[in-house]
Amino acid sequence: MCGIVGVVSSENCQHQVLEGLKKLQYRGYDSAGICLKMGGELVAFKAKGSVEDLEKKCPENMEAALAVGHTRWATHGSVCEKNAHPIFSANKHWAVVHNGIIENFPQLQYDLAKEGVCFKTETDTEVISALLALDNFKDPIQNLIWACGRLKGSYAICAVQQSDQNQILVAKKKSPLYIFSSGSESMVASDPVCFPEDQYYRLEDDEFASVSQTGVIFYNKNGKRIVKETQGAITKQSQISKGVFKHFMLKEIYETPDGLNALSESFANFDFSKMRKWWIGKVKLIGCGTAYHACLMGARYFKKHLGLDAEAVTASEFRYDKVILDTSTLCIFVSQSGETADTIAAAQKALKHTKKIVALTNVSYSTLSSMTPHVLSICAGPEIAVASTKAYSCQVAALYLLVMALKGEKELKNALKNVKKTSKLLEKFYVNLGRFAEDISACQHVFFIGRGSDYITALEGALKLKEISYINCNAFPAGELKHGVLTLIDHSTPVIVIATEKQTSDKTMNSAFEAKARGGKLYLISSQMPNAASLDKFEMCLTLPQTCPDLECLLATLPLQLLAYNVAVMRGNDPDKPRNLAKSVTVE
Ligand code: AGP
Repeated sequence: MCGIVGVVSSENCQHQVLEGLKKLQYRGYDSAGICLKMGGELVAFKAKGSVEDLEKKCPENMEAALAVGHTRWATHGSVCEKNAHPIFSANKHWAVVHNGIIENFPQLQYDLAKEGVCFKTETDTEVISALLALDNFKDPIQNLIWACGRLKGSYAICAVQQSDQNQILVAKKKSPLYIFSSGSESMVASDPVCFPEDQYYRLEDDEFASVSQTGVIFYNKNGKRIVKETQGAITKQSQISKGVFKHFMLKEIYETPDGLNALSESFANFDFSKMRKWWIGKVKLIGCGTAYHACLMGARYFKKHLGLDAEAVTASEFRYDKVILDTSTLCIFVSQSGETADTIAAAQKALKHTKKIVALTNVSYSTLSSMTPHVLSICAGPEIAVASTKAYSCQVAALYLLVMALKGEKELKNALKNVKKTSKLLEKFYVNLGRFAEDISACQHVFFIGRGSDYITALEGALKLKEISYINCNAFPAGELKHGVLTLIDHSTPVIVIATEKQTSDKTMNSAFEAKARGGKLYLISSQMPNAASLDKFEMCLTLPQTCPDLECLLATLPLQLLAYNVAVMRGNDPDKPRNLAKSVTVE
């Protein structure tokens, strides 16, 4: 993953790069570094930890004419200062910051070592600076184009050279890169959210650029100059703050109703007439992690309301599996960021077989949005915390609305009412978790069970809790306990029981009682209170308000998100930046 920022300006480049990097920490936050160009020389500072840690190590007001910075999510090489970017060439003439993975780096290292190159880091990136340092061409951009021609994999690169010319050389393949230029300053970044204005260039694969203070020159892979148009419309910076909340995650959970309302408005105004004419043979819903869980829920809606053969597949499997697609297959790609490498690769595969492709994303300028013929926004608003919360609820609601919209105008109208009602209930549903979070925070393992849509909610609840609490959490279809899992239940095992579905909740209760009989501690999240006789079997019963059955999952999800948040905080973890993860997973 990783985030990169470069600035060429007469102003304080160092400050601008550090501020940009802070906005990119959703892409990785295990180490950070900056390279400043001062009087033709390249000077670097690096820190293990966050950009804030790096900032403390940088002397103030270094008068640099150019700076490039990096916030890292380690792929090759341990987390340490040595492996933090910028990565220099052995002769120190070139410094590189890179987002992506160079897949053929072992071969390149081997070839370069034969020519006498000595590698100092464990990173794949060092082959890029080593190739540049061969200085095969006089023109530095030709050097970069040549070097990239030898790379396999994915990259967004900012390269700077020890020379009199103040320019950042950039290249892109599969990892995003954007350029902003005002005529008096220029910037490069992994996300236009770093730019001061919302007009910018989007670099496409195999395009290159030399970025100087006064402007940008673009090149294709043959070294020919090309002309590019700017594009615009990004999220305003003012929207992205914690406000009165201690963490982004908590704020974002509370923003769920706003997202659902914005989604309803957007779907009410969307013209579905073209999509309604589609002849759909079968449906594939593709995503990763939480987005995949939304796909599971979406598949249920397609089957239930349209009687269609619908299947959810994780993008990392879809891209390599033998999937049978034809022109009648509707493929729906769900991704909050729209930058998830596996989802993008899966969409590229699907595009070869069908044009009935819909992307559901939260970022209008994302790669996924730009490559798919039909895009629907989930309207959740910026989501910063690594753990996806409001985006999940908006993805589920968007899939529900899409299914109902395909069914007909009247059905969509009713569905919009249902979403509005659910949103209103969520607004008032301030759940007091009480002892629940305390109990769970002391555990080493937690089980979640449910049937049907409740099983999907259980999967999402377990992912959320494990992601930020670091507790081992597993979700099972309730009926599966007796096929193996019961062996793990003892007097210290909490079992979180989700039972909102009328037709299966009795069965789920039976499974829960089987766990109780083996010592399990039961916590119930249900639309109804259990009968008086079984009440004392539960440590806690949380009764949800009633909404339409299709959206009860959203009400059950809220307390699970709050549980994960509270447990993470109780255990002293940062819920916004869990260890080893990043918000945007731009590598395979
Ligand atoms: C969710 O809490 C996770 N951080 C993760 O599973 C995430 O949903 C997944 O990486 C997909 O991201 P996307 O929606 O941006 O594609």
